Amino acid sequence: MSESAKLSFQGKDYEFPVITGTENESAIDIAKLRASSGLITLDPGYKNTGATKSAITFLDGEEGILRYRGYRIEDLAEKSNFLEVSYLLIYGELPTQEQYENFSKEITHHTLVHEDIKKILEGFPSNAHPMGVLSSLICALTAFYPDSLNPNRNKEEVNLSIVRLIAKMPTFAAWAYKNEMGHPVNYPDNSLDYCSNFLKMMFALPAEKYDVDPVVASALDKLLILHADHEQNCSTSTVRIVGSSQASIYASISAGINALWGPLHGGANQSVIEMLEAIKADGGDAKKYLDKAKDKNDPFRLMGFGHRVYKNFDPRAKIIKKAADDVLGKLGVNDPVLEIAKELEHAALNDQYFIDRQLYPNVDFYSGIIYRALGIPTDMFTVMFALGRLPGWIAQWKEMRENGEPIGRPRQVYTGANERDYVSMNKR
Ligand code: SDX
Repeated sequence: MSESAKLSFQGKDYEFPVITGTENESAIDIAKLRASSGLITLDPGYKNTGATKSAITFLDGEEGILRYRGYRIEDLAEKSNFLEVSYLLIYGELPTQEQYENFSKEITHHTLVHEDIKKILEGFPSNAHPMGVLSSLICALTAFYPDSLNPNRNKEEVNLSIVRLIAKMPTFAAWAYKNEMGHPVNYPDNSLDYCSNFLKMMFALPAEKYDVDPVVASALDKLLILHADHEQNCSTSTVRIVGSSQASIYASISAGINALWGPLHGGANQSVIEMLEAIKADGGDAKKYLDKAKDKNDPFRLMGFGHRVYKNFDPRAKIIKKAADDVLGKLGVNDPVLEIAKELEHAALNDQYFIDRQLYPNVDFYSGIIYRALGIPTDMFTVMFALGRLPGWIAQWKEMRENGEPIGRPRQVYTGANERDYVSMNKR
């Protein structure tokens, strides 16, 4: 028996269907709310509002559960690899050996970018933030592949755009870093796996041989898996709403990169390290900064803490915290900010302010410590988040397009001036 929700307003009763998902989450379907009652809903930040139905990622914030297409994040982080997880998110199933090999070959075959991209890159000053470079280069793909401007093309052509994105993003990310360093860019090396190829493009220099450390490549692969999708977060919602206007997939992903850049979202991983460094420079007094975070008159927030959905541990933070110890141990890296992070976490988890607000470490709290141990500079951390999130953005864009979702256009409650007549300049 399907459920329904009743609403009484100004003496009239209304009834709306309730839909229930495969994990027993229920939502009131208000598609007919305004037509039947004249009412709309108001929900700044969409804290209580579902934008869509999706079969890609399930997360339970109370239980700290995260699954991609039904598979537990813990299993995928331990047993899978980033390209396989990308295939799973985008096409819905784990690939067979043949499907995986074809997908990997396709990606490898498209890692090179048009030589003219270098001219765009050279236009950026060396102090350009790599996120701005990355979103610009991704959007520039619309110029090099003008057929992609029409997202209504056939399945094969849409799939080629998807493959190009996954293949070329690491090249763009590494080139953005090289632009910052004033180093010559490295071309992809198709004899290497996805993460090793990225690391070589990032760190190889013409003057010397570069061998990828398998510990570093493996740690990076795990981090990319952990960032691959997260249902309707800010940047994914951006990708979906831009894509809903039938803008190209490149324009939609470029918009998502820019949304991720914000320090309240993906930019938090950079802010966490900057915060930990500041605490270290200030004597390492975790309690002092906890008090600042609790002080309403102080804009300081404990970056890497809190989450819109997780009101328990972010399962990704648990995995990354353990990986941080493993990777730093294997690499023989002793980073004092790791101890400060652990002290801060311990103090916060035992502090009533954080307990009352159910604030736990999120995915960004420990990830920067690993990126730093891998030799990745702080302002590239959010670029790494974007590299990881790319298959999720693509999967969500594809689902939105295949479901024929309408253009996103929220309503508002107007609170401005009522009707008034124009006043000529000499009478104001
Ligand atoms: C990501 O959505 C996703 O899934 C995102 C993400 C993904 O994979 O895509 O998981 C990635 O963006 C993780 C979050 C990274 N951002 C940060 O670490 C920045 C620090 N965290 C916060 O700014 C905050 O927790 C948010 C933005 C993450 C969530 O904010 P909400 O849900 O809007 O909650 P809120 O700001 O209304 O906070 C509720 C209360 C407030 O106090 P009161 O007004 O009730 O007294 O908690 C307080 C806030 O002041 N609070 C914090 C805090 N986070 C919330 N206080 C101190 N430090 C913090 N970090």
